[in-house]
Amino acid sequence: MLDLTWSDDYILGIEIIDKQHRQLFSYFEEIDKAITMADSNTVTVVVNGLVNYAISHNTFEESLMEKANYPLTQAHRQIHETFKARATKYLQRLEAGDDPFKIAEQVKVYIGLWLISHVKQEDRDYVPYVKKIVPPKGSFIKRFFRKTTV
Ligand SMILES: [Fe+2]
Repeated sequence: MLDLTWSDDYILGIEIIDKQHRQLFSYFEEIDKAITMADSNTVTVVVNGLVNYAISHNTFEESLMEKANYPLTQAHRQIHETFKARATKYLQRLEAGDDPFKIAEQVKVYIGLWLISHVKQEDRDYVPYVKKIVPPKGSFIKRFFRKTTV
């Protein structure tokens, strides 16, 4: 069976990215809950939420890769574009009135498998570059801002 729960194997060590990846995995739980409750409205809302969040997360990653001068940014962007094209098709089908439960199951498998392999492979490759421009957890800059905003 496909396990779509978060695993620490997916940690990249870039806090903001890890947080967003965790959020993506928590959408799978939300989808399961909505399916269990047989609540088609919530299923539709959560599937939309997952797809839109995944797309904006990818865009965010692209902006970091670009900023970090990651040499494979263009190739990575292309992978995101392919994902986006396919993921938005599910939303179009929802809008067209296809069975939300059926679509939710398909979205879970497609996005779940994509995300797991993407996080463990392509995303891992940009880590050394992006780490240089994003302060690590508990870094001076972060502590500084925490102090000044309290
Ligand atoms: Fe990515």
